Amino acid sequence: MKSIPYFFTLFLLAVGCEPKTMKEQPNMIQDSHSFSKPSEARVTHLHWVATIDFSSKTITATATWQIAAAGDAKEIIFDTKDLSIEKVLLDNDQVATYKLTDAVPTFGQALAVGIERDTKTVSIFYKTSPDAEALQWLSPQQTAGKKNPFLFTQSQAILARSWVPCQDSPSVRFTYDSEVTVPSNLLALMSASNPKTINHTGVYQFRMTQPIPSYLLALAVGEINYQDISSRSGVYAEPSIVDTAAWEFADLEKMISGAEELYGKYRWDQYDVIVLPPSFPFGGMENPRITFATPTILAGDRSLTSLIAHELAHSWSGNLVTNATWEDFWLNEGFTVYFEHRIMEKLYGKDYSEMLALLARQSLDETIEDLKTHDNYADTKLKLNLKGRNPDEGVTDIAYNKGYFFLRSIEEKHGREKFDRFIKDYFNENAFKAMDTEGFTAYLKNYYQTKYSISIEDNFLKAWIYTEGLPADCPQPVSTRFEKVNAFLQQWKASGKLDPQQTSTWSTHEWLHFLKNLPDSLARSQMEILDNFGHFTSSGNAEILTVWLTNAIRYDYTPADATLEHFLIHTGRRKFLNPLYQELIKTPEGKKRAKGIYRKARPNYHFVATNTFDKLLN
Ligand code: BES
Ligand code: ZN
Repeated sequence: MKSIPYFFTLFLLAVGCEPKTMKEQPNMIQDSHSFSKPSEARVTHLHWVATIDFSSKTITATATWQIAAAGDAKEIIFDTKDLSIEKVLLDNDQVATYKLTDAVPTFGQALAVGIERDTKTVSIFYKTSPDAEALQWLSPQQTAGKKNPFLFTQSQAILARSWVPCQDSPSVRFTYDSEVTVPSNLLALMSASNPKTINHTGVYQFRMTQPIPSYLLALAVGEINYQDISSRSGVYAEPSIVDTAAWEFADLEKMISGAEELYGKYRWDQYDVIVLPPSFPFGGMENPRITFATPTILAGDRSLTSLIAHELAHSWSGNLVTNATWEDFWLNEGFTVYFEHRIMEKLYGKDYSEMLALLARQSLDETIEDLKTHDNYADTKLKLNLKGRNPDEGVTDIAYNKGYFFLRSIEEKHGREKFDRFIKDYFNENAFKAMDTEGFTAYLKNYYQTKYSISIEDNFLKAWIYTEGLPADCPQPVSTRFEKVNAFLQQWKASGKLDPQQTSTWSTHEWLHFLKNLPDSLARSQMEILDNFGHFTSSGNAEILTVWLTNAIRYDYTPADATLEHFLIHTGRRKFLNPLYQELIKTPEGKKRAKGIYRKARPNYHFVATNTFDKLLN
């Protein structure tokens, strides 16, 4: 284990990272998902020195936090999960007293460190557990190259505490720098300034000069290459994938400049994407400067790049203006879906973005129905009640798509120009701050009143934010391209005709709309006809495959069995796994089959996925 070089600490002090006073961060909101009490003592900067050990699947590290505390604060509290703490020092050389509370499921343990009036830094020497929930250690077999292991983190929502002791609340921001030692044949990347090539010493330095919340801490280690797309953007991936990825994301710079034209300058310098191995449990994760992405967006035809627009949009909504608590999660995701659709509209036209909007509306209606029938109707409010619950339970279409339609309805009510000016100012004035739902509505009302003399009615806000379901005047997107799909479906139902000429120009989205709107019941013979027509079972597009395979399970279309099993074992993205396992468990035989497949697939999944499916399948 290394300790922090003294000269480096002096350097940090010299460049102005000295502890700040408490009053500089006025908007402190109590977050029920963190043990920390940032209004009494909070962190301002992290210096992280770590060694990554693949053989023991552990990280041995020292986290040195610069702190700011109220004059009478006797302790500072950190969140930890499954960390073994070796020792804690104050100001580099003074042994600190500390206590760890008993472990609470999901939330972990509070680490309370005694501090003094003039304490400037707290250094925590610790080691992670091989089961650390944020970390996924992949064997060479689980990578594309098959030669080297791979490690990646997933910190959102409250998993950062399993690899860095931190004040794990989205309302607490800090800058960081780090020194990470990895096997010398591997490259390390963080949500910070990144190397573009391997340096063969295995030691990498990182610096994140913009303050971020802990859920945006990220690390990836593996055999990784880089390819530029523009002077400020590019793609990282395993060597065999990097060219494919660069081709798929060719429009990356256009997306960044398009986003800037909409809502202001990109404030994080560099924007890269890393394409991870297939077990990555999400589609994308907006780690600052380096979006983490699933390889399932490499469709080969650039048809799934709205996901990149989404993660890029988080550079404003989420990473600049951050949900204060996970109960305000819609502020991150609803804004981001809105922004994502605007980027796609700007680049590819309204025809295109309205397809996305209609898919979003359909999926939202299904989610609301589903939550209603499962006695979770309260979770259809935008403002969530997640006290004592895993914030992961708030990750539904409500935050994303109800959030999106709420914002879109403000746009439609009072005009796009006004709304765009509002959003731009909202991002600028609240940059690098936390925002809760109430802060947002106050800002919105005040802005429209003072700038436009328009009063935004409380009833309107109440109906969207604090009421279940959807207001009757929820925007209904109209997609001319999907109307053609509807006509094609009608024609099939009426005459059995499936003319490939009519579908030759269809994008992934049209195929998705087609597959999601098939007749309510299909005979095996009809499934066969469809498969011969669209070759769905052999589709390389994971979005299409998921919808198709759900139908295959429902209608007992056995020719897709092998594909289904292979897909479930080799894909870790929860959004795809979920509908398939859900469909399987609807029958007793299906449930047996699901359990059998899950037993084989589970070792490939990240904690985020096993945590969901253990409950479903054990
Ligand atoms: N920030 C989310 C992923 C996330 C949310 C991780 C909550 C952990 C907790 C990310 O921006 C996201 O929304 N990803 C989506 C893709 C998007 C296009 C809807 C996903 O992974 O499917
Ligand atoms: Zn998102």
